[in-house]
Amino acid sequence: MSKAIALIGLSGCGKTTYAKALSEKLNRPLYDIDHLIEEKMGLSVREIFEQFGEPYFRQQEWTVFLECIQDHTAIIATGGGLVPHAVARGQDKPLNVFFVYLNPSVEEIVRRLENPINRLQRPLLDDSVDLSQKVRLLHVARSKAYLAWADEIIDTF
Ligand code: S3P
Repeated sequence: MSKAIALIGLSGCGKTTYAKALSEKLNRPLYDIDHLIEEKMGLSVREIFEQFGEPYFRQQEWTVFLECIQDHTAIIATGGGLVPHAVARGQDKPLNVFFVYLNPSVEEIVRRLENPINRLQRPLLDDSVDLSQKVRLLHVARSKAYLAWADEIIDTF
């Protein structure tokens, strides 16, 4: 039986782009966790953070992810915090999912996120933070969790 495929990694690592490409290539349905939460709540990710707080967003994120992985043909673009927060809560890695960790260089991620529109959509990376420093800190803080769940690592682009 096929497994759901989940793309994991920091914001700006290419999860959405690769998920779309994989979904088309393999002819499998695409699930974008952030978009599904936004549709469910009728609010943007930023508004959910502002109105309900990050812990609430994390609960929603995990719930929606568990719904998506019921479909063993799913191609899933996760949000960058899904796996690190799950690992921090002590969740076991779901065995019916193949996790692909996209790990471009920090410099490449910063370059992609420098576009103000990309930052505006991401509450953890808004204008008030030093982007390069924040991405570096997140990379250090989260790499271990991504690596712990990764079935495949792609870091050569
Ligand atoms: C987050 C990443 C975002 C989104 C939310 C939190 C994070 O998704 O889920 O802003 O904690 O890194 P992307 O990875 O698609 O930017």
